[in-house]
Amino acid sequence: MSDARTIAVIGATGAQGGGLVRAILADPSSGFRARAITRKASGEKAEALRKLGAEVVEADLDDEASLAKAFAGAYGAYCVTNYWEHFTPAKELSQARNLAQAAKAAKLEHVIWSTLEDTRKRVPLSDPRMPTLMEKYKVPHFDAKGEADAVFAEAGVPTTYLLTAFYWDNFIYFGMGPKKGADGKYTITLPMGNARLSGIAAEDIGKCAYGIFKQGRQWIGKRVGIAGDHVTGAQMAADMGKALGIEVGYNLVTPEAFRGFGFPGADDLGNMFQYYTEFEQEFVGARSLDTSRSLNPSLLDFKSWLAKYKDRIPLA
Ligand SMILES: NC(=O)c1ccc[n+]([C@@H]2O[C@H](COP(=O)([O-])OP(=O)(O)OC[C@H]3O[C@@H](n4cnc5c(N)ncnc54)[C@H](OP(=O)(O)O)[C@@H]3O)[C@@H](O)[C@H]2O)c1
Repeated sequence: MSDARTIAVIGATGAQGGGLVRAILADPSSGFRARAITRKASGEKAEALRKLGAEVVEADLDDEASLAKAFAGAYGAYCVTNYWEHFTPAKELSQARNLAQAAKAAKLEHVIWSTLEDTRKRVPLSDPRMPTLMEKYKVPHFDAKGEADAVFAEAGVPTTYLLTAFYWDNFIYFGMGPKKGADGKYTITLPMGNARLSGIAAEDIGKCAYGIFKQGRQWIGKRVGIAGDHVTGAQMAADMGKALGIEVGYNLVTPEAFRGFGFPGADDLGNMFQYYTEFEQEFVGARSLDTSRSLNPSLLDFKSWLAKYKDRIPLA
């Protein structure tokens, strides 16, 4: 029987957790094993992970007992919640509580909590520069994750707080790719002014998390921000144009205009981009490229991400 240490991975069928499972399985001599957690063990994505060599276990973030069972016997866990499935910060918080309690019950030795800044620490609800959303939040999908940091600390779970960054994959899957205007020219639309956006290839988040597990105890109790590059909207448009062989402009809109786009979550994202812009130094400063690369030596910068994924960027 192998004495490999098991990492239980929440979100294994998704972007972050999937990257971690694949990183563990790609390195069989690492001393780690991957336990992929999903609500649907018979699903196609779970089956693909099983074929790669992962153990697949069912659990639901809304069911603490199922999580405790799925964590049993593991060394560590990667914990992520998916705000965009329900758009409810209170649910994200309660799922984080379930994760922390389950991790405590299973006596895990190392947990990574995938988090983001609680923007209310810099933009209190009384600050009128951006609207307060759902009565208690400025950037709901950030604030609930940031608020949940305390849940892990209070439960006494040995946790690393992993501050993630904007996925460049949003240009592929989130409708943010170049759009053709009435003048026939392509643009990407971002309310980022001249500020740099900390971005990352989604797959690299899991690879960085794997680096944290490998480096081990030194990361417990620490906050670590990761990014593959810090690039302005204008530079991203220029780089994308070069990679795609077309001209891509930067359609600079205001956060207010972005909030008004009307798709679900547009107000949340408009506030997020305003926060990125107005707190550029703090946001970028919290995500060291050197640290990210030390955790994940194959980390992609924006140009190398484009070289690898340009064919998947839809042109609308
Ligand atoms: N897009 C960005 O730029 C960006 C940047 C930073 C952070 N984030 C954050 O990333 C998070 C999402 O992570 P992702 O992109 O890796 O997700 P994803 O690719 O959309 O996949 C969602 C994953 O969450 C799992 N999941 C959702 N609800 C669950 C539940 N009730 N019980 C068990 N598993 C559940 C799903 O598992 P099954 O369906 O298999 O059960 C799936 O593996 C969001 O909270 C978002 O705020 C996004």
